[in-house]
Amino acid sequence: MDAIKKFYDVHLLPYVLICACTNKSAKKQREIVVPKAEGTVLEIGFGSGLNIAFYDPIKIKKLWALDPTEKLLNLAKSKIANSRFPIQTLNCFAEKIPLPDNSIDTALMTYTMCSITEPLKANKEIKRVLRPNGKLIFCEHGISTNEKDARWQKKLNPYWEKIAGGCQLTRNIPKIIESSDFKIIELEHRHLKGTPKFAGYNYWGEAVPN
Ligand SMILES: C[S@@+](CC[C@H](N)C(=O)[O-])C[C@H]1O[C@@H](n2cnc3c(N)ncnc32)[C@H](O)[C@@H]1O
Repeated sequence: MDAIKKFYDVHLLPYVLICACTNKSAKKQREIVVPKAEGTVLEIGFGSGLNIAFYDPIKIKKLWALDPTEKLLNLAKSKIANSRFPIQTLNCFAEKIPLPDNSIDTALMTYTMCSITEPLKANKEIKRVLRPNGKLIFCEHGISTNEKDARWQKKLNPYWEKIAGGCQLTRNIPKIIESSDFKIIELEHRHLKGTPKFAGYNYWGEAVPN
């Protein structure tokens, strides 16, 4: 059983994650949030580089592309090679970021906070590497504000997390961000058209270090 799970996690899960993140609605969300990034940027959960095409190359000095899944970073190689701005990968977890304090202008996170094992710890690390006037731009799926949908999310979560690399359907994204010593300065949230109710409730906006 362990061998099957290992095979699934290493060889199949990366493609499942890419598929789950390439729908039309997610693309629209990327178009809204990613071009806001500027300066020296840290993307947390860079994956296979689905956001590269949405950055405004004129605004980016350098992109640090952090992801613990080596297979996904390998799948991003050709996109990185063709990028119009410098990209350096960091194959590690967001809970321990190998970058100095106050070195990042923008941290960007799309569809990643759901999968981080210790999101509070990761967000505190993000705060540490951000400059005091830096910002965290996010677009994440999380717990629905519709009670019936939220009940379904809670029922499905134990099964979903097993096939989706630990992805949690029930995270209260604004609460997690504010509990990690950030102040949210822009927030929108709603269920995205054309996505399943259990995984399509999105929260997006900007936060600044407190
Ligand atoms: C659903 S994918 C999203 C990928 C990408 N952000 C996107 O928008 O398409 C979740 C990503 O979170 C990454 N991840 C999981 N645990 C993480 C952690 N502790 N720190 C940083 N990234 C993590 C996974 O490797 C995966 O690339």
